[in-house]
Amino acid sequence: MKQSSLKDFLEFLNQQDAKSFKTDIVDKYLKTHPIDHEEFLPYTFFREETYGRNLIAKNDFFELLVLTWLPEQRTAIHDHANQRCWVLMELGSLTFKNYEPIGPIIDEKKYTLKPAGKAEVIKAGSSPAYIDDGIALHSIANASRKPAISVHLYAAPVARCRIYDEASKTFKWSELEYFTFSGNTWNETIQALH
Ligand SMILES: [Fe+2]
Repeated sequence: MKQSSLKDFLEFLNQQDAKSFKTDIVDKYLKTHPIDHEEFLPYTFFREETYGRNLIAKNDFFELLVLTWLPEQRTAIHDHANQRCWVLMELGSLTFKNYEPIGPIIDEKKYTLKPAGKAEVIKAGSSPAYIDDGIALHSIANASRKPAISVHLYAAPVARCRIYDEASKTFKWSELEYFTFSGNTWNETIQALH
């Protein structure tokens, strides 16, 4: 199958809206338009302190990110506010773990979370994965000894999510930050504005 470019993918994404992202149009596109790994390299920056969220592009309806994972880097357990999410594994593997839904999350309330089902490992070379938006809570980890790179398409974008604080057993709001923007680091982006 002919490899597609990131430019074509972005053109396709920019033509979608809230309604079309709820259909299987993205699944169909990804099935017939595999994207060369190298297309994502300009957006791939590893971060020492935590996994890296590198923004490729976003509008009101979607957000496309390259996530970088050094060995043992992981997300907190978090929710997804009915977002749809597609994952393309570019390098290495990631372990996805779901947790049982707990009904409405109440501030200050303590919860003990139970894993739901088996952890799922997604490896580079497998077909695009879809993260069910019905899943209330999950975490993603690079449980391997090698770096991992994944591309995440979210519809719609969210600026913050709830994360589970394992020490206090309560949920807290967390602002989602970017490590780099469209291939630039934060400092370069600030400098470009001046
Ligand atoms: Fe997530």
